[in-house]
Amino acid sequence: MSKSIGIFDSGVGGTSIWQEIHKQLPLENTMYLADSKNAPYGAKSKEDILQLSIKNTEFLLNKGCKLIVVACNTATTNAIDYLRANYDVPFIGIEPAIKPAALHTKSKKVGVLATKGTLSSSLFHNTSKMFAEGIEVFEQEGTGLVELIEAGETNSKKTKELVKKYVDPMLGQGIDCLVLGCTHYPYLIPVLKEILPKNITIIDSGEAVARQTKAVLIKNNLLESVGNNPEHVFYSNSDVGILKELVDNPLAKIEYLDF
Ligand code: DGL
Repeated sequence: MSKSIGIFDSGVGGTSIWQEIHKQLPLENTMYLADSKNAPYGAKSKEDILQLSIKNTEFLLNKGCKLIVVACNTATTNAIDYLRANYDVPFIGIEPAIKPAALHTKSKKVGVLATKGTLSSSLFHNTSKMFAEGIEVFEQEGTGLVELIEAGETNSKKTKELVKKYVDPMLGQGIDCLVLGCTHYPYLIPVLKEILPKNITIIDSGEAVARQTKAVLIKNNLLESVGNNPEHVFYSNSDVGILKELVDNPLAKIEYLDF
């Protein structure tokens, strides 16, 4: 049996990244770990986020994964340096897409919606400093949004109200790009499209992460060969219902596992 791409997130949000990876790399086996029992990571300390990231990584490595995608901005910005330094497989991370937003904005004002853990990380600050020179970046913590998405409320009245509360002040500042700095948030795009004026561009990193995953597989000679009949296994340590709904793929084997 050929080895899988391992993917983890604090919960179901990283499935937005899985969708992109599966689209760009349809021959690859994948194994996804949703640590929903411990979501949200965003309000936890850096040390707690690191320990959970180590646990998730070791789980996937013990299952024989050949590469790990940290499909969580909060875990990437707080733990990926440690993971890369301590484990012998390639790691792909995800960070808020400041650089594409900085290249795209005309008003020179960009909004970033992300978790507290991401916005307070030094990796996020360094990236902003490096790529957003001359651009005003308006940061907004999306407190409560991960919990609503974990509960399957991607389109409820409560979710709409909270999203509006978070984006209105950034719109008032004159942003023309909104960066989704959390892998749960692409599931809010339908709600965001209802709320945002037409001239606002929504930017997320899913496609770029999948492209980078492919490039790293090729570089390390790990790409799956033609003829593989891929398997997609999803583990969750909480209710699997919402995971099934979001993955929505007949090839996916979705299981509860107490980890
Ligand atoms: N999907 C995670 C991220 O990209 C959510 C973090 C959380 O659980 O707060 O940041």
